Amino acid sequence: MKRRVAVLISGRGSNLGALIAAARAPDFPASVELVLSNTPDARGLAIARSADIPAEAIDHRPFGKDRAAHEAAIDARLREGGIELVCLAGYMRRLTPFLVGAWAGRMLNIHPSLLPAFPGLDTHARALAAGVCLHGCTVHLVTEEVDEGPILAQAAVPVLPDDTEATLAARVLAQEHVLYPRAVRWLVEGSLERRDGRVVQTRGEAQLVSAL
Ligand code: GRF
Repeated sequence: MKRRVAVLISGRGSNLGALIAAARAPDFPASVELVLSNTPDARGLAIARSADIPAEAIDHRPFGKDRAAHEAAIDARLREGGIELVCLAGYMRRLTPFLVGAWAGRMLNIHPSLLPAFPGLDTHARALAAGVCLHGCTVHLVTEEVDEGPILAQAAVPVLPDDTEATLAARVLAQEHVLYPRAVRWLVEGSLERRDGRVVQTRGEAQLVSAL
């Protein structure tokens, strides 16, 4: 039985597309069963619908400042859908301890930097400004602090002399699409283990994907 995954998005949905594509493989241990967006104009909703996956907007705006009520609506829909694992993929709302706590250990996020470097926004511009030679992306468990949960997997790419924000972002994004399905597979298959505050892969697969 494949584990039932929901993907939460706010925009383009390319990581959603990568997860949907990976989950089509018969031996992939999870299937994308629900896509939720906090905004009705997220382009990713169309990606889900064209794959015949239920895709709904739970618009945050009618809830005003009541984040808890918005999250309660999301949580209710996840439970109604029998969801077992939640993947944040470009979901641009900061979560409260309620939703994080409700899905602790079962909610992942992908972030476009090698955490703990460059948490937050504009990661590619900040990597260029900092002059780093190495950049990448991270899949981590979601905890209350933004971009701080235990790291499950990372992918590294070079920063090249002529890079712009756009070329660097594209190089990282290609690796995001490889990394996210891999991390989902590991979590579902139970091949990740907490050891001394970190998460390690117990079957010898590399937690660092290198595109160097
Ligand atoms: C990705 O770069 C992801 O790492 C970040 O938001 C972006 C979402 O892109 N969290 P997409 O919507 O998956 O194309």
